[in-house]
Amino acid sequence: MAKKKKNNSEESTSESSNTKPRRDFLVTGGAILLGVSAASSMAAVVRFASPDFSTGAPTSFALGRASDFKLNTLSWLRDRDIFVIHDKIGFGAFSAKCTHLGCIVQRTSDGFKCPCHGACFGPEGEVLSGPARRDLPWFHLWADNDGMIWVDSASEVAAKTLPLSQLKQQSGDEDES
Ligand code: FES
Repeated sequence: MAKKKKNNSEESTSESSNTKPRRDFLVTGGAILLGVSAASSMAAVVRFASPDFSTGAPTSFALGRASDFKLNTLSWLRDRDIFVIHDKIGFGAFSAKCTHLGCIVQRTSDGFKCPCHGACFGPEGEVLSGPARRDLPWFHLWADNDGMIWVDSASEVAAKTLPLSQLKQQSGDEDES
């Protein structure tokens, strides 16, 4: 009987020593899961604050020839969600996607308004009222040897950058300015 009692005591000790590593494992595992969950939540918050509107499509594409854009006009390239401006200085292009959550802005008499949450932008895409906090981005333009204007929608430039004034001669409007 005494021997059996001793065995019970040994079992108890053995069980206790087996329980501790398991408890440590559970505590460590729980902490890791909590950390992963917190990091994932933080990443979601960061993504929400800086939404990525990219679709995976090529970011460089031809906009058209200079002559496709009349002088002193703002053209909306609906399939590219880009506005192209052509004035006496040259050409420029900026995004039609609201910098809040990516809705396509609509033209107003004094700029642009987002139909989703009401952000307003000035005529050159500058934020006038939120919830958007960033101006509509302007993109790098260049011309190839055939006079085709290209844009890289992944390459932002300063607003009102109109680097293609050299194309005015190709567009045939040099006499109008
Ligand atoms: S998506 Fe434009 S204001 Fe929200």
